[in-house]
Amino acid sequence: MPLCHLADVLARFAQKDSQISLRAARRKSEGSDGDGPCDSRPFPKPRLFPGLGNYPIYLELATTFSLGFYLEDGPRLSLRPFVPARTMRTASADQSLASHLGAAERSSKNHAGACDHEQMLGQYIPLLYHYNMLQDTDRVGAFFAAIELLVRPGMHVLELGGGTGILSSFAARQGAHVSCVERNPELVRSASRFIQVNGLEGKISLINADAARYVPSAPVDIVICEMLHVGLLREKQANVIAAFKRNYTQVHGPTLPVFIPEASILMAQPIHQSFDFAGYIAPVPMFQAPLLDQPRTTPLGALSPYANIAYNDFIPLEFNIHQRVRSIANGTVNALRFVTQNVLGIDMEKQQAITWPNQCLVLPVETPFDVVAGQEIDMSFAYTAGGTIDSVSESMKLSS
Ligand SMILES: C[S@@+](CC[C@H](N)C(=O)[O-])C[C@H]1O[C@@H](n2cnc3c(N)ncnc32)[C@H](O)[C@@H]1O
Repeated sequence: MPLCHLADVLARFAQKDSQISLRAARRKSEGSDGDGPCDSRPFPKPRLFPGLGNYPIYLELATTFSLGFYLEDGPRLSLRPFVPARTMRTASADQSLASHLGAAERSSKNHAGACDHEQMLGQYIPLLYHYNMLQDTDRVGAFFAAIELLVRPGMHVLELGGGTGILSSFAARQGAHVSCVERNPELVRSASRFIQVNGLEGKISLINADAARYVPSAPVDIVICEMLHVGLLREKQANVIAAFKRNYTQVHGPTLPVFIPEASILMAQPIHQSFDFAGYIAPVPMFQAPLLDQPRTTPLGALSPYANIAYNDFIPLEFNIHQRVRSIANGTVNALRFVTQNVLGIDMEKQQAITWPNQCLVLPVETPFDVVAGQEIDMSFAYTAGGTIDSVSESMKLSS
């Protein structure tokens, strides 16, 4: 196995521990950083964030916030949110907006106008909507970087929900044997054509199956799965990986593969959102591109992590959240913003994380209320992983 898992890091959160440097050393001695085949890269540089001074690993977060893993006082590890000096605005962020709007759309459309439960939840994503995902350089570049970091020649890689096969192609070009599971037969047919066009036949085996039921005949080194949506809503990332782990360990024993992503960090934040549209007030739910400035949004509460999901560890499928959040400014709270950061991989040697944030989700609260800086805000909501945005809205309660 090539790298440590974020679960290890989180499990040792706030404990005295020196395993991080030991693991990095172990990885080096295992020679896992040999050079695999290298392709031309049509992406901007992956977002690898260097440490801040003594704080070697930090994960950039959506919009105005970052969350850091700080290695403090030598071995002690702690996790603290912090606010970066300024927000990022990049050319690719604009693309990211388009693509995230596409992602919103892809989750609500279906192929034939039918609208069964599965389709409404974004389980069926027709080929037409894959363009948005393929041209999202933030998404594709981050997965490329993580796959390049973790996949070594000769490994067996399994992709769950392969779509057009793009992520499988990155693993195949690293020299891995890849099995790519996709439930939608239309996509399997298209992926088969694309794999041929790219000269990767013989390196990627396509399997038309439900990833929540599929078990590979032999153990695999790495599992790639991108069925990610903000808050782990709508798409079934958590449910599919939880089911896969159950099935896999029954057949192959307790040793799990490395997951890409390794983890998702789910956060929420009370905000003031301007819902004024040409003088017409319409508090509607909305998505926000994670890397763009949001002039209509004023953060009023601290960004509050409510779940750290490490995919090789226990995966909660129910979120029943009650938290008190300190307000950071005076204002009127009228919405809750959901922010999700995915840790695709961690390079322990460089002390860097490869991350990809989902689009943020802003949900209006029923009864807006005023707060002053320092005051506590009560925040509660409940939903099931893969559930609807409406289910979150209906359960949400905020008050001072
Ligand atoms: C967000 S897309 C990602 C596609 C591709 N991995 C990529 O990165 O471009 C998720 C894919 O998972 C597939 N999918 C969803 N649920 C699935 C399941 N239970 N089994 C297999 N594939 C599934 C969808 O059809 C879709 O192609």
